[in-house]
Amino acid sequence: MTQRIIRCTNRHLDRMLEYISVHNPAGEHHIGYFGVTPEDIRQSVLMLNLRYDRGFRLALEGNHIVGAMGMDFDREIGRTWLYGPIVTSENWDATADALYAAVGKVIPPEISEQEMFIDSLNERCRNFATRHAFVGHGSLAIYFITPDRLAKLPAAAADEWDDRLAGQFVSLHEQLFPRSNYTLNYMLAERDKGATLLTLSDGDQLTGYFFGRAEQESGEAYVDLVGVNPNYRRQGLGRRMMLAGLAQLRGLPGLRQVNLTVDSDNYGAMQLYDSLGFMKERDMAAFRKTTG
Ligand SMILES: CC(C)(COP(=O)(O)OP(=O)(O)OC[C@H]1O[C@@H](n2cnc3c(N)ncnc32)[C@H](O)[C@@H]1OP(=O)(O)O)[C@@H](O)C(=O)NCCC(=O)NCCS
Repeated sequence: MTQRIIRCTNRHLDRMLEYISVHNPAGEHHIGYFGVTPEDIRQSVLMLNLRYDRGFRLALEGNHIVGAMGMDFDREIGRTWLYGPIVTSENWDATADALYAAVGKVIPPEISEQEMFIDSLNERCRNFATRHAFVGHGSLAIYFITPDRLAKLPAAAADEWDDRLAGQFVSLHEQLFPRSNYTLNYMLAERDKGATLLTLSDGDQLTGYFFGRAEQESGEAYVDLVGVNPNYRRQGLGRRMMLAGLAQLRGLPGLRQVNLTVDSDNYGAMQLYDSLGFMKERDMAAFRKTTG
């Protein structure tokens, strides 16, 4: 059937969100940046730096959507994130390539890096990535815990943020998560909006920290970071900070689940999450391509 690639205008938005909501939860189609629930997907599309009517394209057969793809970019970081392709046409490869070509025209020439983040079961996207010269950029596991399981966990104490720790915090954070997108300034700004930033100290020495956020709109919360000074590991501090942080996050009214992402080779952290009752939702793979 004849296929058309069109821009996702205001008129198509709801149909596109519905299409993504139907297909994105399945591992074979899943693109990590969208999230899973219809609320997540709507939020992720509406929050982009580049509006959907500029960044998103649809593949139509007749009047039916058979593919969707979009992108977002950040000039400062110099990177584009590919939201797709999600394709249900029988001509998967050709449809995905046509969407990618259309989306590619919107990427500013000075952006030199493209990233994809897909479920490891999404084989067609994996092949797409290889075909378009992306290379593997790590594997991650996504974990979640539900309110019934959270309710069974004991609370624990940790300290609220103290500005006097800023210097130590920045150096420990750089040691544990080099060049992280989560800067202290970002975390403090989020904390002003209700995020949770907790620390533990031994005298004047910062021994660990926890950063998490709750999203009112979607009812989802996230553990973004938990880190313990290497000299203080296996003494229960990581567990204690998780319990203290989760005790705050579980206060979100209408909470559906708390999520976190961990590198697939971070065995110690996964053991910690398992022991708290987190469950694995899916395995993800990241890909990057350098252009220009
Ligand atoms: C993951 C991390 C926070 C754990 O901190 P910690 O204070 O050492 O953890 P705890 O002492 O509370 O350990 C609790 C449980 O987690 C598991 N665990 C923690 N580290 C482990 C390791 N290296 N190997 C195996 N199991 C481990 C164990 O089940 C442990 O219980 P046990 O000591 O009774 O066996 C810490 O190793 C760290 O900061 N790593 C670097 C940053 C990071 O990867 N953070 C997680 C991703 S955001």
